[in-house]
This record gives sequence, C-alpha cells and structure tokens, in this order.
Amino acid sequence: MTAVRPRRLRPTGAMRRLVAENQPRISSLVLPAFVAEGGTSPRPIGSMPGVVQHSLDSLRGAAGEAAELGLGGIMLFGIPAHKDAVGSAALEADGVLAAAIRAVKAETGDDLVVMSDVCLDEFTDHGHCGLLDETGRVDNDATVEVYRQMAVLHAQAGVDVVAPSGMMDGQVGQIRAGLEAAGHHNTAILAYTAKYASAFYGPFREAVDSSFAGSRREYQQDPANRREAMRELDLDLAEGADMVMVKPAMSYLDVLADVSAVSRVPVAAYQVSGEYAMIEAAAERGWIDRDAAIDESLTSITRAGADIILTYWAAEVARRHATDWRR
Ligand code: PBG
Repeated sequence: MTAVRPRRLRPTGAMRRLVAENQPRISSLVLPAFVAEGGTSPRPIGSMPGVVQHSLDSLRGAAGEAAELGLGGIMLFGIPAHKDAVGSAALEADGVLAAAIRAVKAETGDDLVVMSDVCLDEFTDHGHCGLLDETGRVDNDATVEVYRQMAVLHAQAGVDVVAPSGMMDGQVGQIRAGLEAAGHHNTAILAYTAKYASAFYGPFREAVDSSFAGSRREYQQDPANRREAMRELDLDLAEGADMVMVKPAMSYLDVLADVSAVSRVPVAAYQVSGEYAMIEAAAERGWIDRDAAIDESLTSITRAGADIILTYWAAEVARRHATDWRR
C-alpha cells in the first residue's frame, strides 16, 4: 500500500479549512443593481428570480444593506423611461443613472464603492451598445464620444468607478481623457477588457427592458478566442484602465486565469445573468443543491484568479458566509 495519501489532508472540516487555497471574500463582491426611471416599487425580473428593477427608494435600501453586509461595491444599471435611436436619455444630467448614483452616494457615502455602467444598450430603442451609422452598423468613434460624455456625467454625480462595457476600440483612453479634462482625476475606470459575445447575457435583456434580438459579434469578442483577450488587456492598460474585467465568468475561467497571471491591476470577473438563471432554474427543479452550487461557482471564479467578483448573489452569500468569508 502507498504511504503517500493526499486524503490525510481531508478528514475533517478543520483540516480542510487549514489547507484551503482559495476562498471568496465578502469585501471583494460587487452587487449589480438595476434601477428603473419613474419606478415606485421594485419590479421582479422573471428570468432572474430574486433580482428586481429597483425604484430609487428601494435602490437606496439595497445599497445601505450592501454596505452593512460589508460588500465591496455596487454596479448600477439604469433603465430610462424613454429609449430612442441615439440613447439620448444617457446624457440627461438628471437621468436615471445620475440620479441613482446620487441616491446611493447619499446613502452609503464612502462605505461602498459605487460603479456605473457606461454603455448605450439600456438607452437605445434598437438595443445596440452604440450609435448606428447609415448602414446600420455600430459606429465606433461616434459611440466612444458619447461614452466619454456619459462618464463625465457620472463622475459629476459622484460615482467612484465608471465601467465601460460596450467593447468599442479606444473607449478607455477617450473616457480617461474626458475625465481628466473635466477635472475628475480620481474617478477610476473598470474596463470590460475581455467581454465575449455571449448567450449567457439572455436574462439581462429582460432586466433592462431591451427588445434586442440581434448580435453583438461585431464588437464583443468571439468565444473561440483566448489569445485575443491579452491584446485587449494590453490596450486597456495602455489606455489607463485602473481595473480590468473578464466576462462572463464560468465559461471563460481560462481567460480569467490568463489575465490574472499577468495583470498589474486588479482583475474582476462578472458572473452574468445567464449563469445566475441557470443555477436558480436547476435548483428550482430540485436538480442541484442551490447554495452549494452558488458557493462552488464563486470559489471556482476565485480560484481562477478573480480579485473582484460581480454577482447577483452578493448580498445573499455575504449573509450566508458572514463569518467564514469575512475580510
Ligand atoms: C452592456 C452590458 C450587458 C451586460 C452588462 N453590461 C449586456 C450585453 O453586453 O449584451 C450583461 C450582464 C449580465 O448578463 O448579467 N451594457
């Protein structure tokens, strides 16, 4: 019989805890939150049980709770009352996102890092992440100009971190230049660096009342490509990204591991709406152990190298793991 027995390190909970290599941390979790303009009460999102479109009031409550639980941050997505071809509501000074940023900042001060989505898909009636040219394609440079203005607007409202998610070329550099020119030297940029054209964003469409039925393959990355993520990383860092992100998480753990192995800035991973919905749906049918699956998914993302995780379960796991995932 062999004398070498790895199982010696697995007999008890105490021993397994002692030798555990990775564990998510509550302070590294970010809660994505949706806020609907004009909403008076939270509205459930059918394909994301437990997630809602907040009113400003209920958003304030959720942000306060997030801070209380010790979460790292909140990522805000706005749903405007009116959408049009150019997403003009995104540039309204008192628009839904600016109002949400102000409300959350007023509630949580410096106790919670407030992040905002800088993208147009929530604001356009066609649902693309940018402005369309005469041929119906997303116009990269015209779109980036709007992102730049959006970012400045969010910074004026007091956001700590802007997060451009549109995958336009040069978006990080232009946003940095815009923030600097407006005097917002301390507003950080979390770049959606390796964001893939993924079917796992499905439930997000319902979450932001989007009718989008097309494809984002002309601007988001091809799921087939791994090396390309490193090129996007080089560009985002050169343009001044303060943090970078890989998205989705579970189907892209290899990309996450690659990025985290070389990045000199913190690396975030986004456990997206479809990842959430799949676990919730299977658990509802009694096919998997819900809590265990959630915990395992977050542990896997941590093991692959994420410093920061965006997850719709952030508040729930912070409650469940108030003692063991503390710090
Ligand atoms: C774009 C954006 C999307 C998500 C976050 N930011 C949608 C998309 O790119 O199609 C998806 C997040 C999720 O699915 O949870 N503003």
